[in-house]
Amino acid sequence: MDSKIGIRIMATGRYFPDKILTNHDLEKMVETSDAWITERTGIKQRRIAESHQATSDLATEAARIALKKAAISGEDLDGIIVATITPDMFFPSTACFVQKNLGAKKSFAFDLSAACSGFIYSLGVAAGLIRNEVARYILVIGAETLSRFTDWQDRNTCVLFGDAAGAMVLGPNYDDDSLLSLYLRADGSYHNLLYMPGGASRNPATPQTVSSRLHYMKMEGREVFKVAVTKMEEAAEKALELANLKSSDIALLIPHQANMRIIEALIKRFGFPREKVAINLDRYGNTSAATIITALDEAIEQKRVKHGDKVLMAAFGGGFTWAGAVIKL
Ligand code: ACO
Repeated sequence: MDSKIGIRIMATGRYFPDKILTNHDLEKMVETSDAWITERTGIKQRRIAESHQATSDLATEAARIALKKAAISGEDLDGIIVATITPDMFFPSTACFVQKNLGAKKSFAFDLSAACSGFIYSLGVAAGLIRNEVARYILVIGAETLSRFTDWQDRNTCVLFGDAAGAMVLGPNYDDDSLLSLYLRADGSYHNLLYMPGGASRNPATPQTVSSRLHYMKMEGREVFKVAVTKMEEAAEKALELANLKSSDIALLIPHQANMRIIEALIKRFGFPREKVAINLDRYGNTSAATIITALDEAIEQKRVKHGDKVLMAAFGGGFTWAGAVIKL
């Protein structure tokens, strides 16, 4: 990117609630089986937030870990962006609760809604603000409590999602740049394939919207699947192209974790060896905006990637939105 101010990835952190819901647990709740879920999705278990935990609580836990690793405090932050489609409330934003929890006195705070592409979108917004010297230190968080918006009577969706938060601390870099490319897209004509119809201005909450279960996520899985494969490939390809790189230059691919079959298609398309692909959906399910950042934090901790390595991220989600980026650690 042509700017004299580069982006520095200072640290990452992740948080998963303790409570585990396995496929076998789900067999007791809806008509499904461990074999079906494993074969169709690759998911074995997911984490569920405790009843007292809202999205900002998960986000704050991940943020505290990332800030500690970055050796800065909440007071040093200039901005907080929380990518989420499962906020604590419509307003104030989840980011404002995180700002309060961290004592980030001089920080702006807002949420960004781009579903599963939310983390890459937020990374792009934060990078723009840092490059333009609006802010020095920005905390970017992907956090979701999807379990609160999942219809636990609908086997088509309830087996897929989990709760999680991941955080990244970004700062300026005057010698180098850690964001090598960014590709963001959306197509709202697909709004009716993955959405939550009730409780907002289109269908305000009434006893009828609640009894019709409109306040839960709805998904046309098969249709979403087809578009997801194409758009994830496009996102990865464009991110590589914009960074002027080949897939062989990439140390780790971090795809959004929605379905193992979508990931397999991406791996095949770009010829990535399995050891160069980050997978966490078997243990955590689809955690929407949190999948990529939690998988990145895990890969850094496991020393699967090191300083200077290039990481390709690709995401796809409700909207539809899709996004790709190459970062250099
Ligand atoms: N257990 C058992 N059977 C099931 C289950 C279940 N949990 N869910 C569905 N089935 C049944 C269906 O009823 C259907 O039965 P039928 O043939 O008698 O009608 C059959 O299994 C096949 O259903 P499909 O929907 O065709 O199954 P598919 O292979 O497409 O897998 C899945 C479904 C896993 C949802 C897949 O379509 C998928 O992963 N889609 C993409 C999800 C995604 O990428 N989401 C984007 C991001 S999420 C976000 O933005 C918040």
